[in-house]
Amino acid sequence: MKVLISRDIPRRGIELLTAEGYEVTVCPDDRLLTQVELIDLARRHDALLCMFSDAIDKHFLNECKHLKVIAQFAVGYDNIDIAESTRLRIPIGNTPDVLSGATADVAFLLMLAASRKGFHLHKSISLGQWSFFRPNAHLGLELRNKTLGIFGLGRIGMEMARLCAGAYQMKILYHNRTNNAAAEKMFAARRVEFDDLLAHSDVLSVHSSLTEETRGIFNKNAFCRMKRTAIFVNTARGPIHNETDLIEALHDGTIWGAGLDVTNPEPMKTDNPLLAMENVAVLPHIGSSTIETRDEMARVAAENIICGLRGKRLPTIVNPEVYTNPGASNPLA
Ligand code: DGY
Repeated sequence: MKVLISRDIPRRGIELLTAEGYEVTVCPDDRLLTQVELIDLARRHDALLCMFSDAIDKHFLNECKHLKVIAQFAVGYDNIDIAESTRLRIPIGNTPDVLSGATADVAFLLMLAASRKGFHLHKSISLGQWSFFRPNAHLGLELRNKTLGIFGLGRIGMEMARLCAGAYQMKILYHNRTNNAAAEKMFAARRVEFDDLLAHSDVLSVHSSLTEETRGIFNKNAFCRMKRTAIFVNTARGPIHNETDLIEALHDGTIWGAGLDVTNPEPMKTDNPLLAMENVAVLPHIGSSTIETRDEMARVAAENIICGLRGKRLPTIVNPEVYTNPGASNPLA
């Protein structure tokens, strides 16, 4: 069996695959492959371990319908056409849970950095702008006893709630399709309508997946309904916010600040006005980027590949319908 890995990953994942006797190809170039290149390589392999930046769309899937399993090295999978994979009976795995703590840490870091203008003031030192003490300069916002609004309270949102409730006794509001009973019990979190989340959050942190429903939901209309003192944090996916509207809202003081680990587009251009704003903190999509988490992600992704190639159910299956859909052949059969 041959496994293609679209970008180098921690050794642990590769070793698990080679220990199974698979022939593993790691794309050698440190660059994004074009879809044509990825298709060409994937055609010569039985399984693919891919990144969230690889376009696994209808075209790719139909060109590579021989693949026995696709394991995404991320929890989000908006780059994959799940309906088409299911139709083609290709099981898709992702890497949930193992990255929740690390990603929430980055949301917390960005919240704090934006609230105290941390990244901007750090830069100002190297620009020679650290002068004398001024009581009215560099004023930030306190977070103690404020309200955290979570858009999409799942595993990562739970970790963010834990950090904010523990560190600053923040009150937790959330907007979800369904109730999160654990959060209500552990943090006295309250589920509210989207409008109420906008109106009452001091910090609004996005932890939902990118879907047609969430794409661009944080737009001019949403920012206008937030507090003028609010901080917007997005560590989920850039297209959930409209970046032009966000820039405008920050520029004209509709909201106070922002912390972004994801932007739209990625990578962000160096002349993006967000980079020059003092109440804004931006990181280059590093939510899951710790040694421990990336190691675990490599393990989970490799285990998905191994199960897929053995014809077993993937431990973290995204499209379980591949196993149950009547009228199609069952890959477990
Ligand atoms: C994810 O897992 O979806 C992250 O955004 C990438 O590490």
